[in-house]
Amino acid sequence: MATKKIALIGAGNIGGELANLIVQRQLGDVVLFDVPARENFAKGKALDLEQATALSGNQTRVKGTSSWADCAGADVIIITAGIPRKPGQSRDDLVATNLPIIRDVADNAKQHCPNAFVVVISNPLDAMVYEFKRRTGFPAARVVGMAGTLDSARFGLFLAREANVSVQDVRAMVLGGHGDDMVPVLSNTTINGVPASLLVDAAKLDAIVERTRKGGGEIVNLMGTSAYYAPAAGAIAIAESFLRDQKRLLPCAAYLEGQYGYTDLYMGVPVVIGSGGVEKILELPLSAAEKTMLEKSAKSVQGIVDVVKKAAG
Ligand code: NAI
Repeated sequence: MATKKIALIGAGNIGGELANLIVQRQLGDVVLFDVPARENFAKGKALDLEQATALSGNQTRVKGTSSWADCAGADVIIITAGIPRKPGQSRDDLVATNLPIIRDVADNAKQHCPNAFVVVISNPLDAMVYEFKRRTGFPAARVVGMAGTLDSARFGLFLAREANVSVQDVRAMVLGGHGDDMVPVLSNTTINGVPASLLVDAAKLDAIVERTRKGGGEIVNLMGTSAYYAPAAGAIAIAESFLRDQKRLLPCAAYLEGQYGYTDLYMGVPVVIGSGGVEKILELPLSAAEKTMLEKSAKSVQGIVDVVKKAAG
């Protein structure tokens, strides 16, 4: 089978960890792209990672570059280009800086990698992935945003610790926009089929939901910048499911065309990811309270998408 090519747009904290995971999981060769001012940084990271393959013994190649020509023909693009949050900032505060960046990336991706499956990570996530799809005109099946896998991982970890069970057995799903009003779906949260509410009392579940919603901010406050290990792992789960046609059911920001009552909007929903990209969007039966929360989350996403649509460029 031909070796796959994975272009990582942004060689910062998440980009570096994405490259590391791709090498470890032998998903394909990596192009680590950044702006010309950071080309040497990208090259240095790539060299460091390739030297690690000499110890692990795998054949993966990693190339650092600031030339889009090196990304040509990529099977997968994962986009982290942009700035992360600092303490006190919301994800939406990043739009002024990250919007021109995502537009630049979209124009180059369209020119150089017209057939790639794309995972957007840059924040504010739902608006940036919307703009990427709008600008490139790529089909909805080939453009997703990563947030739900991360938010669900956070939710699942907190639950596992509270219930004192293996995190492996937690089935948890966080839907909606990647903001503080995201929707952890308690009605579908189980410990291997056992409703979470049998193992964790209501007050503690509420506290876990609240901590999940603020999960990104908790790390920004501790580190002074945003998380990168778990976000990278969340994106690799999506990319791997595509590359290996695993058909995993994962929460991803997907383009909605009527599902859950929303149209022309990207938001976190359960999707099946296989070699066809987004092969299916599932509509879960939500409780009335969950529907209300989703509505609130969708309104927040729509608000920032409207800002993006109005911004010239
Ligand atoms: P970082 O600052 O470490 O790396 C970002 C890189 O993008 C920098 O190296 C920068 O030079 C590069 N860049 C800027 N403009 C570019 C362009 N036009 N083309 C290519 N590269 C460009 O940031 P980090 O921590 O890797 O975060 C990246 C983004 O991911 C941020 O917007 C952050 O808010 C977001 N994020 C999203 C999460 C999610 O769940 N969706 C979770 C955590 C972070």
